[in-house]
Amino acid sequence: MLHVSGIRLEVNLQEHVPPVFVDENKIQSVFVNIMTNAIQAMPDGGTLSIRTSYNQQRSPEYVIVEIEDTGKGIPKDFLPNIFDPFFSTKGTEGAGLGLFISYGIVKNHKGQIEVKSEVGVGTTFTIKLPARNHRGINYESAKDNGN
Ligand SMILES: Nc1ncnc2c1ncn2[C@@H]1O[C@H](COP(=O)(O)OP(=O)(O)OP(=O)(O)O)[C@@H](O)[C@H]1O
Ligand SMILES: [Mg+2]
Repeated sequence: MLHVSGIRLEVNLQEHVPPVFVDENKIQSVFVNIMTNAIQAMPDGGTLSIRTSYNQQRSPEYVIVEIEDTGKGIPKDFLPNIFDPFFSTKGTEGAGLGLFISYGIVKNHKGQIEVKSEVGVGTTFTIKLPARNHRGINYESAKDNGN
């Protein structure tokens, strides 16, 4: 367990997940952007949880990464805009580009980003990345061509 400025870090990585084929630096910047937002949303401390998981039955196409904070949350009115370029509630502290760039990167990987948030409770970002099977073929495309 790690303590950074009153923030508790909880990491929960499922051991057996299929590989994903990603541009490592780009996907790393997605995680950094989303974790930075999470930390900035908890100026008085809180918990940052990172989880990875894979569920063959429920969602065989994707390896799932969840980044959850117990911060201020995002008002419902703002939710449709958070992935827009230059949308920021941080004044001069934020360019409003972190989520815009992250969205583009995940989309280029044929993945998905979802967000759930409640004001005063916290926010969870879910990043889904295409899972590959033992032959290095994405599960999604494997279904299409009968592999
Ligand atoms: N975890 C979070 N908790 C609360 N609000 C969030 C969270 N993540 C994003 N937001 C909201 O979404 C807005 C856009 O986020 P984004 O990362 O794109 O820009 P930014 O953090 O303001 O600036 P930049 O990332 O360019 O430094 C934020 O200004 C904030 O209002
Ligand atoms: Mg940001």
